Amino acid sequence: MSAQAATEVGPARDGDPLIETANRVLPGGTFGNLAGDLVIREGRGGRVWDENGKEYVDFLLGSGPMLVGHAHPEVTAAAQARVAQGTTFFANNRWGIELAEAIVAAVPCAEKVRFVSTGSEADLYAMRVARAFRKRDKILKFEGGYHGMSDYSLMSLAPKRPGNFPQATPDSAGIPKSLRDEMIVAPFNDAETVASLVREHRDELAGVIVEPMQRIIPPAPGFLEDLRRITAENEIPLIFDEVVTGFRFAYGGAQEYYGVVPDLCTLGKVIGGGFPLAAIAGRADIMAHFDRGAVGDDAFLMQIGTLSGNPVAAAAGLATLEILKRPGAYEGLFATGRELMESLDGLLQQAGIPAQVIGEPPLFDVVFTDTPIRDYRGTLKGDTELMRRFNVLLRERGILKGESKYYVSLAHTADDIRHTKEAWASAIAALKEGGSGKH
Ligand SMILES: Cc1ncc(COP(=O)(O)O)c(C=O)c1O
Repeated sequence: MSAQAATEVGPARDGDPLIETANRVLPGGTFGNLAGDLVIREGRGGRVWDENGKEYVDFLLGSGPMLVGHAHPEVTAAAQARVAQGTTFFANNRWGIELAEAIVAAVPCAEKVRFVSTGSEADLYAMRVARAFRKRDKILKFEGGYHGMSDYSLMSLAPKRPGNFPQATPDSAGIPKSLRDEMIVAPFNDAETVASLVREHRDELAGVIVEPMQRIIPPAPGFLEDLRRITAENEIPLIFDEVVTGFRFAYGGAQEYYGVVPDLCTLGKVIGGGFPLAAIAGRADIMAHFDRGAVGDDAFLMQIGTLSGNPVAAAAGLATLEILKRPGAYEGLFATGRELMESLDGLLQQAGIPAQVIGEPPLFDVVFTDTPIRDYRGTLKGDTELMRRFNVLLRERGILKGESKYYVSLAHTADDIRHTKEAWASAIAALKEGGSGKH
């Protein structure tokens, strides 16, 4: 794609028949994820095209699953082979079994695996299986941590006016008030507070759930190790939500990358190869609660899903893992990510804009503040209006990303990187001018 081509065709506008239809039949005109002014037609490698033919370097990557790039020929072939032979059976199938085997081989905490269809479900069941195991109800989560959309998870993800710890604040209408008391909320990267909350609530706590890198905030040195120690000492299961980090930070996920092994983890995104598939994985004695024969009626956790272990998704996931297993895969991913992070950081510094580029090379973004960020409240110091304008300017320049994340792909090429750097330079210049001038 030439930089010029990216500016020739504008994004879909109101008045487009497809957008008008969306506005008529979808609440807010969207699927709920992004604004409805963007309608994507297709993707290949590290690029996507919208319905107007405008081309983007894609750092959204379907919100993460497309780590090896869109329409990767091997993933496509694996999925197509399954589609031709029947797409879902409810019963066990070879591809799901082999994917579970691959997860057990790769992920340090994974002795057993249970498949579901989304990361939200995986987190819901991970918390439920911790409750079944501990025979207690409360779960400790971190302010700003995202664990999907269940009533329990959607607490203190993005409170506008953060309350006092450990009180939970529901993020959505429709969540029963009574559930607030089932969640205990702690500040990320603050092991001392976690230790005192765990001591205080030990007899009510079923588990601690954490994103090992919370959104784009890396764990402070020693934080995950402290969490591991505190939970182990109190015999409370530690759950890593690896829906984002699984097979992305390393083949064994964040638990391999940071060197801290939880009792349970959840996986999603990458393991489904772009199809709906997610999983709970972990210690055999905890996972045994999914097995009535092992634990008996009273301790049994009922869990059924029509599409669980779907063969198309599992085959696409297996093909994805095959690609990731190849020598140099993660070195390439990290080299691309590092180059991008350093370049963005350098351009912002040159421009004298107070900003920090944070995250890890496969997943990062900028926060417009010069105050170091350790937790959710730190992110509130960021200039969100500047961020919004920067993202708009980048979209105009053919860069697609989520609100606060760049997902890097193995498929991003030198040309993609070059185009991205040009777009950053031009967008930063426009930010400094205070306008939204195109390049
Ligand atoms: C850390 C984390 N957990 C859970 C989820 C939920 O996954 P899903 O959207 O598949 O339900 C997400 C989704 O982005 C996530 O980032």
